[in-house]
Amino acid sequence: MAKLRSQQWFGKEGKDGFIYRAWMKNQGIPSDEFEGKPVIGICNTWSELTPCNGHLRELAEFVKKGVWEAGGFPLEFPVMSLGETLMKPTTMLYRNLASMDAEESIRGNPLDGIVLLGGCDKTTPSILMGACSVDLPTVFLSGGPMLAGKHKGKSIGTTDIWKFSDANRKGELSQEEFVEIEAGMCRSDGHCAVMGTASTMACMVESLGVTLPHNAAIPASDSRRKVLAHLTGRRIVDMVKEDLKLSKILTRKAFENSIMVNAAVGGSTNFVVHLLAIAGRIGVELNLEDFDKFSEEIPLLANLQPSGDHFMEDLYYAGGLPAIIKELKKQLHKGVVTANGKSLLENAEDATCYDRNIIESVESPFKDDSGIAVVKGNLCPNGGIIKPSAATPALMQHKGKAYVFETVEEYKATIDSPDLEVDKTSVLILKNAGPKGYPGMPEVGNIGLPKKMLDQGVTDMVRISDGRMSGTAFGTVILHVSPESAVGGAFGLVKTGDLIELDVPNRKLTLHVSDEELTLRRKDWEAPDLGVNRGYVKMYIDHVEQAHEGVDLDFLKGGSGSEVSRDSH
Ligand code: FES
Repeated sequence: MAKLRSQQWFGKEGKDGFIYRAWMKNQGIPSDEFEGKPVIGICNTWSELTPCNGHLRELAEFVKKGVWEAGGFPLEFPVMSLGETLMKPTTMLYRNLASMDAEESIRGNPLDGIVLLGGCDKTTPSILMGACSVDLPTVFLSGGPMLAGKHKGKSIGTTDIWKFSDANRKGELSQEEFVEIEAGMCRSDGHCAVMGTASTMACMVESLGVTLPHNAAIPASDSRRKVLAHLTGRRIVDMVKEDLKLSKILTRKAFENSIMVNAAVGGSTNFVVHLLAIAGRIGVELNLEDFDKFSEEIPLLANLQPSGDHFMEDLYYAGGLPAIIKELKKQLHKGVVTANGKSLLENAEDATCYDRNIIESVESPFKDDSGIAVVKGNLCPNGGIIKPSAATPALMQHKGKAYVFETVEEYKATIDSPDLEVDKTSVLILKNAGPKGYPGMPEVGNIGLPKKMLDQGVTDMVRISDGRMSGTAFGTVILHVSPESAVGGAFGLVKTGDLIELDVPNRKLTLHVSDEELTLRRKDWEAPDLGVNRGYVKMYIDHVEQAHEGVDLDFLKGGSGSEVSRDSH
C-alpha cells in the first residue's frame, strides 16, 4: 500500500505532528490509531431539518463498526444538509453550495477514504459531486427508503399528495381527513418511499457502481440496511488499500449503464441535471442526447409509483435493484467495475426476481415507454425533457394555444379563477422557474391544473416550464427548457394565445410564431430584476449553467485532486 495521505498530518514529527494528534486525543483516541491506519471520513448529511436523513447518525455507527473491524480509523463529520420539504426557496439553489462544503471538507482533512451518507434528494448528488472533485477512494451509502405510508388500510406515498390535494381543492376530501393522512404518510425512518428523486438517486449511485449491491432499495428501518452500513465500512478500508478512486469507477460506460438502469426503474427527471453535474466533476463527456439515446431501447421494468403502483420496499422484497440489473444483462456494458471490485453485472449474477408484479421482464415489460425523452425546437433550442412513462399517451402529440404564467406567484394567484381563459387543449406555460430566473430551478414545473378544468373532469394537460418537477409527480410536462426564459431564450417570448405543438415521438417542441415576430418581441424583452446583490445567491446567479449542462457553477466543473500543498501551522 502506498503511503497514506493521512500520514501527511498524523505521521509528522515535531510541533506540527503534535498539534495534529494532540487535539484529536481529547476524543479519547489511543496513540496507535495515528500510526498508519487508513483514516476513513464519514461525510454525513444528517440533520433534524432533513427528516429523511434523521437516522444517518445511527447508520454511521454501523459504518464505523465495519471500519474498525477492517483495521481503519473512522472519523465522522457533518456537511450541509438539504431538506427537501422545508428549505426555501428550493434545495436545488444550494446543491452546489453543499457540494463545495463536501469537497473542501474532504480535501482539507487527513482522510484516506470516504463514506458518503445521503438520502433526501439533493443530499446524494451534492456530496458525490464534491467527492468527485477530490477523487479519493469513496463509497456511497444511502439512508434507504421509508416504509410505505398507510391510510385507512391502503398504502400511500408521496405521489398521492397531489391527488389528495386536488381532491381537497375540489371539496371531495375534508380538511380533517387531509390532516389525518399526514400522520400515516411518513411513519418510519428514510426518504420518500416511491421512485421519486431520492430513490432515483439511490438507484443512480448503485448503478454507477459507487455503492455495494442492494444500496438502493433496502428500507431504512430494515436491519439489513445496518448490515449494509457495516459492510460498507469494512469495504472502504480495502478500497483505500487498492487505491480504488472514484475516477476508476465513474467511467463513461458507468454513466451509460446508469442511464439505462434509470430508464428501467422509471427514475425521476431530476436524474438528468444531477448526472450531468456529476459527469462534469469527474471529467466524463455527457450530454442531453445521451439520456434519450441510451434509454431508448430500455423498457420500464419496475412497477413503482409514480409510473406504477408499488413502493421501494416492494422492490427490495422482489429482488432489489440487482434483479433489475440482471434483466438488462444484454443491454448493459460488461466489465464496469464497482465499489466492491466486481462489475455491475457480476454483482447481479445471483439476483432473483421474486415478484413479477413488481419487476417485470424485458420480454414482457411493465411499459414500453421509459426513460427520458429530449425534445428540441425553436422554443427550446438546447432541449427540454419529458418522462414518457409519467405522461398521458394521448397528449404526446398535441397542438394547443399557450396560456402563460410569467411567474409561479402569478400562477398561484390566478389558477383557481373561473375566468381563466383555458380549455382542455390549452398548453400551460410557466416562465421564470429556471436556474437563474427563480433562482434555483424549483420543482414547480408540474403546476396543478386550473380548478375549472378539474371541475370538468380533466386529469392532464400539456405543461411547459424551465423549472423542474418533483420526482414523485406525473403528467405531460416538458421541463428544463433551455435556454430558460430569464436569459432571453425564445421561451421568455411566448405570449398567451400563441400556438404550440408538442411531438414527443419526433422529439419536437415548436412555437408557431414567425422569426420576425420573435425578433420584434425580443426588442421589448427585459431580464427580470431578482434584487439579489450579495452572498452565495449572487455568486450562484452569476455562475450557474443552464439545465442542459447540469446546473453546476461554471468554476466548479472538474476537480482539484486531493493534494494540499501548504500546512496550517
Ligand atoms: Fe426527502 Fe422526499 S422529502 S426524499
